[in-house]
Amino acid sequence: MSDFEYAPALESKAIANISKDYGLFINGKFIASHNKKRFETINPANEEVLAKISLADEVDIDKAVKAARAAYVKVWSKMSGKERAKYLFRIARLLQERSREFAVVESLDNGKPIRETRDIDIPLSAAHFFYHAGWADKLEFAGFGDKPKAHGVVAQIIPWNFPLLMLAWKIAPALATGNTVVLKPAETTPLTALLFAEVCQQADLPPGVVNIITGDGSTGAALTKHPDIDKVAFTGSTEVGKLIARSLAVSNTPVTLELGGKGANIVFEDAPLDQAVEGIINGIFFNQGHVCCAGSRLLLQENIHDEFLSKLQKRMSKIRLGDPLDKNTDIGAINSAAQLAKIHELSSSGQAEGADIWSAPCQIPNKGFWFAPTIFTGVTQAHRIAREEIFGPVLSVLTFRTPQEAIEKANNTPFGLSAGVWSDKGSRILWAGNHLKAGVIWANTFNKFDPASPFGGYKESGWGREGGRHGLGAYIKGAK
Ligand code: NAI
Ligand code: MG
Repeated sequence: MSDFEYAPALESKAIANISKDYGLFINGKFIASHNKKRFETINPANEEVLAKISLADEVDIDKAVKAARAAYVKVWSKMSGKERAKYLFRIARLLQERSREFAVVESLDNGKPIRETRDIDIPLSAAHFFYHAGWADKLEFAGFGDKPKAHGVVAQIIPWNFPLLMLAWKIAPALATGNTVVLKPAETTPLTALLFAEVCQQADLPPGVVNIITGDGSTGAALTKHPDIDKVAFTGSTEVGKLIARSLAVSNTPVTLELGGKGANIVFEDAPLDQAVEGIINGIFFNQGHVCCAGSRLLLQENIHDEFLSKLQKRMSKIRLGDPLDKNTDIGAINSAAQLAKIHELSSSGQAEGADIWSAPCQIPNKGFWFAPTIFTGVTQAHRIAREEIFGPVLSVLTFRTPQEAIEKANNTPFGLSAGVWSDKGSRILWAGNHLKAGVIWANTFNKFDPASPFGGYKESGWGREGGRHGLGAYIKGAK
């Protein structure tokens, strides 16, 4: 008797009330798009179509921006912070009330495990609205002058890795500071944003304060170029971030960008190794590795390399990959065929360039997009898998001999979003923290998020901060 199998513990889909067809949410109502073009969003775990989604064009964008402008001028800019806060609190409570429904819809549309949507994505989204509701009537005490002023109409574009959470990171601070919003979710994961539109209706949010337009990259590009946008906030790839920065440079429109990363997780010889193994696993396999701040490079002190690797492989062998709606699942589906192809391409480059690949033994389902948790050893800094963002469950392992070498290798990247330090010595952690060029540094833990804590990076990881008092500044005119 050594093998105990888990019985499946499936969350029911019955609570997810997904329509067949969605319009655009403009001025408080769902309306048909101008060109009637549609695209499908699928469940990446089984490739089934979930719903048909409207593809907004320039005419729709103009309508949404006009609705946001009118709501700003007539209602939202005139309302006191105390009144705005009531709407944010109401939205936060509605997200909590409907959290199970949101968790199921997010898992279906994105492929991420229900354990994560239930325990992380949805509660953190509600927490962002609660936190920012608290700021709305205290902005004059936040250090932005005694009359902080909103930008006006904000265009927001978000990616598919944390659909509702990225919406919350964008919309909550924008509304708290008195802006109105036109937001575009990613094309593969629009459903929770459309469900959020229902929450805005339920909360009686004045029409036009939040507008949700769906579409692809062309819709996003057209939105950022609309002449009546006062500020742009984008989360996504560094490539698209650069395009947006370039196109907005002409008009000098304020912009915040949250882009990619290639975070280093540094394990020193004195680290509590078992605890570090858990942190490394969480750092790279959380959300299938579709995390901009993932700890995708493991830097191991050379003398613990072999011991650590055998512990890591043993732990990886216990990771459960499969149905995202099963509460036992650790790793769900890769979000799209395109993302899976990108992971395969980079992983093949790792093998071609001479690194050694090892994947956890797991059963890959017949349908859907999947990638087994994988590590590469013998990786050098020149390898593509050490330099480029894979955005999948793939860890590149490098070694170092001295603390200085660890810092140099960790900082040797065009990015600078996150880093992790594992050591028993407080002084070493503080020393490393002072020398690492990363916006977020975790010590003896990883991937911890809180609305009060600012998030953002150096270099090609982006411009500006989200969350905390620093994040508010991005939505206040002239604030730094
Ligand atoms: P992407 O940057 O193309 O998409 C993100 C969002 O931007 C989506 O809503 C998309 O419709 C929109 N968009 C696309 N082109 C645009 C344009 N020209 N102007 C305005 N908006 C535009 O990212 P994609 O293609 O989904 O993923 C590609 C790679 O980007 C991934 O493999 C990953 O490495 C990285 N990525 C990083 C993210 C992060 O949080 N750091 C999030 C998503 C992707
Ligand atoms: Mg989908």
